[in-house]
Amino acid sequence: RIVYINGEFLPETEAKVSVFDRGFLFGDGIYEVTAVLGGKLIDSALHMARLERSVKEIGGFLPVSTEEIVAIERRLMQENGLSEGLIYLQYTRGAEDRNFLWSEGLQPTLVLFTQAKKLDHSKILENGLKVKIVPDQRWERRDIKSVCLLPQVLAKRIAADAGCDEAWMVEDGFVTEGASSTAYIVTADGKIITRANSNTTLPGCTRAALLQVAAEQGLTVEERPFSVEEAFAAVEACLTSASNFVVPVTSLDGKPVGTGKPGPVVKRLRELYMENAL
Ligand code: PDD
Repeated sequence: RIVYINGEFLPETEAKVSVFDRGFLFGDGIYEVTAVLGGKLIDSALHMARLERSVKEIGGFLPVSTEEIVAIERRLMQENGLSEGLIYLQYTRGAEDRNFLWSEGLQPTLVLFTQAKKLDHSKILENGLKVKIVPDQRWERRDIKSVCLLPQVLAKRIAADAGCDEAWMVEDGFVTEGASSTAYIVTADGKIITRANSNTTLPGCTRAALLQVAAEQGLTVEERPFSVEEAFAAVEACLTSASNFVVPVTSLDGKPVGTGKPGPVVKRLRELYMENAL
């Protein structure tokens, strides 16, 4: 596989990051994951806008423009023959001797690689995902797509050990989001509910694209926090992310959501999203 690192396209074994890289030492970095389907970058403009925002929020600067980043992504897709899978991008503040304070003008580290992966969710669409409820143990700037992912790594371990596919994190009795996804429920009176964007969650690109098409189709999504009790009482549930698009959630902490089978509202949301994405 050919990877991109700081201006160069290299075989993955030749691409090296310094042991003094601030991403490694401090988790001082930002990432993005973009899906590729049918040779197309999905929601690319939204991912680039969020990247720019995250970098700005940590007081960093991108070493190349987002137009150049998209060109790098296309070249990697071509070099690696990737028509379906993911593109991972990581930006860090750069490498220098360990010091909490960074030097002005430090050259950032920018790495991109492809991950070939079938984004075939047919099994999930048939059965839905199992979700485990865990406490949200993250910091208060979850709107920044930071590489400090230890809380999510541990949350996903707990979920997997419980035989679940994803963790939904809870704060003050309300679901914030999935460990790597945005959370939604459908109430008994047919309302689709997901938390509004704020510092308490990552503003999902898949979420933004989905809400836009849903609104165009006259489906209203209520943007507000929902409690764990509401989630248990929901008739349907789903999650969205770059790697899953829109998929049903049919089990919460071992209890079935609604009938325990994927329902019509989530099926419609999935169709709307996919039609728009392709
Ligand atoms: N995760 N919330 C969190 C905490 C996330 O990490 C992600 C994405 C999302 C969904 O965002 P988007 O729709 O833009 O992918 C929500 C990526 C896929 C990951 O960490 O692999």
